[in-house]
Amino acid sequence: MEKGFFIVFEGPDRSGKSTQAALLKAWLEENGFDVILTREPGGTALSEQVRKILLDPNGKVSPLAELFLFSASRSQHTAEIIKPAIAAGKIVISDRFTLSTEAYQGYGRGLPLDEIQTINNIASESIQPDLTILFDIPEQEFEKRMRAEETKNGTDRFESEHLDFRSKIHKAYKDFAQRKGIKKIDASKSIDDIRKEVLRLVKEIIIK
Ligand code: TMP
Repeated sequence: MEKGFFIVFEGPDRSGKSTQAALLKAWLEENGFDVILTREPGGTALSEQVRKILLDPNGKVSPLAELFLFSASRSQHTAEIIKPAIAAGKIVISDRFTLSTEAYQGYGRGLPLDEIQTINNIASESIQPDLTILFDIPEQEFEKRMRAEETKNGTDRFESEHLDFRSKIHKAYKDFAQRKGIKKIDASKSIDDIRKEVLRLVKEIIIK
């Protein structure tokens, strides 16, 4: 049996990647491919439990504990879902993977990037996506969204910390877009334009 493909969707929150991941899954299935759509954190029973802990608005989690929880979720996800599915010839689409940890725990929380990369390699058993599609929010659109949020929420300490964090994530993905092998998509385009662009990129790797 031929090896499958591993496709990762990355980008800041609310960049539209989850909608596009679902559209891609539907198209691939209509065209006869065996597809698993999954996500991080999550994708397995254990990882979904960890997701609840990580996303709980009342939870108290230190940056390092956060890094290890995301990594624990990833290691279970890799072993239980991603590796076996690829070995069985399926197409795995993951909504987020290791770049999210570099963005959020590295740029966002300020943990050292080299240490994160080492932990990412361990947790993911060094598997590399065949394709990473990065949903990029162009500068002007990002500033517009930030301004809208500022006027809506006011600027108390927590809100400004929140905006500051969002800026760091934005910067992270801008930097990652320059890396070799990463395919950037303009997330401000229409859903249908993005869908077509995603399909073009995916066809390049699956149809040889
Ligand atoms: P989601 O809402 O896109 O599913 O992601 C949940 C949140 O978790 C999102 O704000 C990004 C964050 N996250 C990290 O901070 N580190 C990681 O390694 C991953 C996978 C997600």
